[in-house]
Parts: sequence; C-alpha cells; structure tokens
Amino acid sequence: MDEIQFRSIMEQYEQDKVLEKFETMNDRDKERILKQCDFLDFSFLNALSNHDAKRGKIEPIRTMKLAEIEQNREKYEKIGTEAIKAGKVAALVLAGGMGTRLGSDHAKGMYDIGITRPVYIFQRMFENMLDVVNSTGAKFHLFIMTSLFNDKEIREFLYEHKCFGYDPKFVHFFVQDMSPCIDLEGNIMFSKPDEFAMSPNGNGGFYSSMMNAGLDEFCREQGIEYINVFAIDNVLQRIADPLFVGATIDSGYATGAKVVKKADPGEKVGSICLEDGQPSVVEYYDMTDELLEAKDEDGEPAYEYGVILNYLFRLKEMDGIVRNEMPVHIVKKKVPYLAESSTSETGYVTVKPEEPNAFKLETLTLDFVRMMGSCLPFEVVREREFAPIKNPMGVDSVESARKMLLALGYEL
Ligand code: UTP
Repeated sequence: MDEIQFRSIMEQYEQDKVLEKFETMNDRDKERILKQCDFLDFSFLNALSNHDAKRGKIEPIRTMKLAEIEQNREKYEKIGTEAIKAGKVAALVLAGGMGTRLGSDHAKGMYDIGITRPVYIFQRMFENMLDVVNSTGAKFHLFIMTSLFNDKEIREFLYEHKCFGYDPKFVHFFVQDMSPCIDLEGNIMFSKPDEFAMSPNGNGGFYSSMMNAGLDEFCREQGIEYINVFAIDNVLQRIADPLFVGATIDSGYATGAKVVKKADPGEKVGSICLEDGQPSVVEYYDMTDELLEAKDEDGEPAYEYGVILNYLFRLKEMDGIVRNEMPVHIVKKKVPYLAESSTSETGYVTVKPEEPNAFKLETLTLDFVRMMGSCLPFEVVREREFAPIKNPMGVDSVESARKMLLALGYEL
C-alpha cells in the first residue's frame, strides 16, 4: 500500500491517532507499516459503526433426530460413501485460531493431550479421517486453514509427523486473512513501533481466504461439490462422515449442520433455529430468556439443539457468497499492546493485559447457515462426537475431552 492510500483509509475510518503517529515515524517504520497493510482487511472497521443489526423473528426449526437417522442409516451411508468415492467431498479444518483460552504458545492442533503417550489434537483429526478412508476405500482432500501466526509451525509439525499417516498429496494449506485490533475507544492498536496489533479475521473468513489462494478453482477442477468445514479443537470430530454427507445430499439442502442436544439451555454453543423463515444459528450470547424458556408443541425446549462447528456446505451456493456480505462480530479479548516507557531503551514496552482491553473483529462460519438459504440440522450423540477443547481445565477442556476419549476406550 502506498502513503496516499494509507492516509485515505485512515481518514475514512477516523483513525486520527494512527495518522498522528504515522507522521512522526521514520521512513523505515513507515515502510513496514505500509507493507503490513497489504495483509489487513480494514473494511472490518465498518462493524464499529453498524454492529447493532437486530435479529429477525426467531422460530424453532425441524431437526433430523437420532431415531429418524437410524431408520435410514443404510440409505444415507450408501449415498455418502458414493459421493466420497466419486471425489465430490473435501474437508476443511479451521486451524487459524489463537487458542487464547487454552494458553499454549503453539497452534491448538499441536497440543498434546496424551497421558502415557503423545496424542496430539492433529493426530486425532487424521485418525478420524483415516477411519473414513478405511471404511470407504477412498481418500479425500483436506484443506487446512492456518493464520500468519501459526502457518509455518503447523506445516513443519505435520511434515515432521508425516501427516499422521494421511497421504500428504491430499493435504493443502492456506492462510486466512487478518484484521486490525481496536482499543476500547476505537483506535487501531500498535503491537510494536512499526507494527499494528492484528489477529486472524475469524473462522468465517475461510471461503474468501480459500478463494484468494485459488483453492475454489482447485475444487472445481477436481469435481469437489461439498466441503465439510470443522473446528480443530473437537477431538471426537467425525470428518466426511458418510452418514451425515448422505443425509444432507438426500435432503437436497445446501447445508448440513451437525447438532447435539444442549447439556443445559445456557450451554455456550450456537442454537439452530429459523430466523425470518430461514435456517440460522443464534450465538449463545444472543439467546434471550424468552427463547431459552420457549417450548415446542411436544413441551420440549424449542431451541434445544446446539451446533458443534461441523458443517457440510454445497460449493455451488458458496460461490455466490462474497466476503463483504458476511456480518462482522466484535469480540472483546486480551491483546498485548505497546506503551511508552521511560525505563526501556527503546522508549516502549509491550504490555500483556490482565483484562480484555481490545476488540477483535471476526466473521463466523455459523453465519453461512443463514446465507446459504437451506440447512439440515442433523443430530449426533454428544458422547461420541463432541469433545471440544477450549480450556486447560473444567468445561470444554483437555480434562473433559480426555474423560470422553477414555470412556470410548481410546488409549491416552
Ligand atoms: P474459537 O472461537 O474457539 O477460537 O475457534 P480459538 O482461537 O480456537 O480459541 P480462543 O477463543 O482464542 O480461546 C473455533 C475454531 O475456529 C478456528 C479455531 O482454530 C477453532 O478451530 N478459528 C478461530 C480460525 O480458524 N480462525 C479464527 O480467526 C478464529
């Protein structure tokens, strides 16, 4: 980016403090900032002025429940297996997150959850994929979304571990875009004198980043029609699950979403529902008491199914959705920042805050559900398919995931 473009963008987003600082910088620092701007998506700053979008009318959605799935198991597995064998299905893992709650210095997938032997989160993912390769006799492509912060270490780690036995010819990497971090007054933050504080632009950035990497074209060339998008941190994640793939294809819908019965109405997972008549996911913090207490005609909680970040998307519809249509969410997080210091040689120190001090701007995969227009909510059994690792201890933790794996007879 050149200086003229930079000044115009900063003026557009009323970043007076950044402009003031820029004018005091030496040429080398200016050059570095301008170079960094090539990787940053400033359009996300629009969210700061128009983030009060009201939700539409929320109503319950019909979910395909376990009994119905069981009745049709053979048919769905056949359809799913045929699609996988025909190369129509690929998988995409969202591995660009910072895993701040887990507190590891490395990418989440590199975390070792073993007790008596190393068991890495990436290893669990490849083991689950190999189950499908072995049962269908077909390999399928995996796209790994990394971030500027963890791309190198993830590539090196998987190279060193030989993709845990998965054919590396079927493994592709791409880096997600970044967005600037904003302080609580709306100013873009600096992490170094010549660098903005930035973070990956949320897991909803996967399709635009895939397009930037030319992987949408690769999918078309390969005849890939469906893409199974999932989070890295669920160590029981079933990937390209023929049953789920078959049920979604059979439904004719553009999306399938794996859901579990919520452990309690307030569980921190998005609730699947209809919004203004369209399938949609309401984040847990947007669920009102009225929605949490609502009952359906059978007297069951009306919004009792939560998404587990495992979706099957039909690419035909995704092509029509461009990045700028994605809603941007504002999340309050802890972001290290630069502060003036009279005791440091450089005149600056990097401060690691104790409390959230910044807004990160993120798009979310769950918003695709509404944008895709149709969706099959597909129930799965929590104990078999949902062991997310967000924290070291307590709810959704290494501890709880280990318990679930051990209960299934998995050796740790
Ligand atoms: P989370 O929302 O749990 O975020 O991500 P996180 O970064 O893993 O953890 P915290 O919130 O900082 O503790 C859910 C999934 O989305 C991916 C994560 O890697 C995880 O698989 N993700 C998240 C991305 O790929 N990119 C992002 O920008 C954010």
